[in-house]
Amino acid sequence: MTGQPERTHLVTGAGSGIGEELADRLAERGDRVVRLTRDVVDLEDAVAVARWATDFADDLERLDSLLHVAGTVDLGTVAELDLDVWQRHLDVNLTAPAVLTSHLLPALRAAGGTVVFVNSSAGLVANAQWSAYAASKFGLRALADSLRAEEAGNGVRVTTVFPSRTATPMQEKVHEQEGRTYDASRWIRPATVVDSILHVLDLPADATIPELVIRPR
Ligand SMILES: NC(=O)c1ccc[n+]([C@@H]2O[C@H](COP(=O)([O-])OP(=O)(O)OC[C@H]3O[C@@H](n4cnc5c(N)ncnc54)[C@H](OP(=O)(O)O)[C@@H]3O)[C@@H](O)[C@H]2O)c1
Repeated sequence: MTGQPERTHLVTGAGSGIGEELADRLAERGDRVVRLTRDVVDLEDAVAVARWATDFADDLERLDSLLHVAGTVDLGTVAELDLDVWQRHLDVNLTAPAVLTSHLLPALRAAGGTVVFVNSSAGLVANAQWSAYAASKFGLRALADSLRAEEAGNGVRVTTVFPSRTATPMQEKVHEQEGRTYDASRWIRPATVVDSILHVLDLPADATIPELVIRPR
C-alpha cells in the first residue's frame, strides 16, 4: 500500500459508449467511480442536476476527476430544428456540465483534480445540419476555457477532448439520420478515446493538457 487516498471520479454518460468504457476502466484500476446515468438524474433538468450535485457534494471531501462525457445529438437544418431540440442540446451538452462543475469545484480543488470535457470535432467546425449540436459544443469549449483560466491558481486542471466520429450508439444514430450504412470498423474505437482521457488523468503534476484532438487515421 502506498498510503495514497482512494481516487474518486464522477463520470456522466456512464451508461453507454465512451462514458461506460471510461467508468469500467477506472473501476478496474481500483478507483471509486460514481456513474451518473440517466436513471440517477436527467441532464435535461437543470434544477434536478443542481439538486443532485448539492447532495453529492455534501458528503464529498475530494474529487479527483469530473468527467463530462454525456451528450445528445440530432441533425437537421436550422429551418427544421424545433425549440425542444435546441433546448435539449443546450441543457444536456452545456448547462448540465456547467452546473455540475460549479457545485463540485470545492472537492476538485481539495484534490488538485482534473475536469475533462468530452467535446467533438463539431465543437471546432460547424457543418450543415449540425447547428444545435455544434453550437452546444462550441459553448462547451468556452466553458472549459473560462474554467481553465479561473482555476489554474487553485490547482484544478481542465482539459477538452475533441474526438471525431467514434464507434458508439451515438454514431450509429448519426448514420441513421444521415441515411448512411454504419460500419463501426471505420471509426475510432471508444477504447482509444478512453486511453487518451486516462493519459490526461495520469499526467504528472508538472504539466497539463488543455486540449486534445483525436481523429481517425
Ligand atoms: N460517437 C461519436 O462519434 C462522438 C464524436 C465526438 C464526440 N462525441 C461525444 O462523446 C460523448 C459520449 O458519447 P458516445 O459517443 O459515447 O455516445 P453514447 O453512447 O450515446 O453516450 C451518450 C451518453 O449520454 C447520456 N445522455 C444523453 N442524454 C442524457 C440525459 N438527458 N440525461 C442523462 N444522460 C444522458 C446517454 O444516456 P442514455 O443512453 O440514457 O441516453 C449516454 O449514456 C458525447 O459528449 C458526444 O457528444 C461522440
